Amino acid sequence: MDSENQNEFFVIKALEDGVNVIGLTRGTDTRFHHSEKLDRNEVMIAQFTEHTSAVKIRGKALIQTKHGEVATD
Ligand code: TRP
Repeated sequence: MDSENQNEFFVIKALEDGVNVIGLTRGTDTRFHHSEKLDRNEVMIAQFTEHTSAVKIRGKALIQTKHGEVATD
């Protein structure tokens, strides 16, 4: 991972109970390694790391990144 991206983070705000934030592993083997459950109005601030290269979000949520904002619905 290049150092320019190291401090970058994204924000996930749950818009309903039971939103799942799932971290997927970096490297040749892409699998789930972490699942975090958020209830309505809970916020998670996270980064892409050495271990995490992708994130899957299930449920109604608002996601903010430096590239913009997106909603899951
Ligand atoms: N231990 C994980 C890591 O360092 C924690 C993590 C970071 C994570 N970013 C995430 C978990 C995004 C879920 C989604 O990679």
